[in-house]
Amino acid sequence: MQDRNYMPYTDAVLHEIQRYIDLIPSSLPHAVTCDMKFRGYLIPKGTSVIASLTSVLYDDKEFPNPERFDPNHFLDESGKFKKSDYFFPFSTGKRICVGEGLARTEIFLFLTTILQNFKLKSLVDLKDLHTTPVANGFISVPPKFQMCFIPI
Ligand code: HEM
Repeated sequence: MQDRNYMPYTDAVLHEIQRYIDLIPSSLPHAVTCDMKFRGYLIPKGTSVIASLTSVLYDDKEFPNPERFDPNHFLDESGKFKKSDYFFPFSTGKRICVGEGLARTEIFLFLTTILQNFKLKSLVDLKDLHTTPVANGFISVPPKFQMCFIPI
């Protein structure tokens, strides 16, 4: 895991995958604990609120051309990893995903181990690949895709 600090491009690709696939588009419902004002609206105590994570992950001021997969969204001009306050795939606040640390560790270790040991080959022409989710409710499920893992 310590190596991640020296792998800005890999880190940026992993962040961009999570931003782009927008796996969980909204938070779970949470109730407002007291009357509050938000952008001129009164939200009374007890109201259920569901935050749109997509609206943050696809914010076009923070991520120009958000519909495009581009690791540069997380890299600065000198190629260093650039943190973003808009990276919210695990939501935010007191009820943020409790599995965030575990999930991020697994994503890094699984993907780097796969890439270090296999060459990946698509079974279909890359231009025929589509990334539009097949279901878009609580979870945005990516379409099924077959590829060969060729040992290096
Ligand atoms: C890529 C993987 C994952 C993503 C994108 C993800 C995302 C999320 C999101 C968006 C929420 C809703 C937070 C909110 O309502 O504001 C959540 C809640 C939660 N997640 Fe994850 N999660 C992931 C993996 C995991 C793992 C590996 C675990 C357990 C080991 C886990 C356990 C939980 C639990 C228990 C909650 C409910 C937290 C609460 O309501 O206080 N998640 N997750």
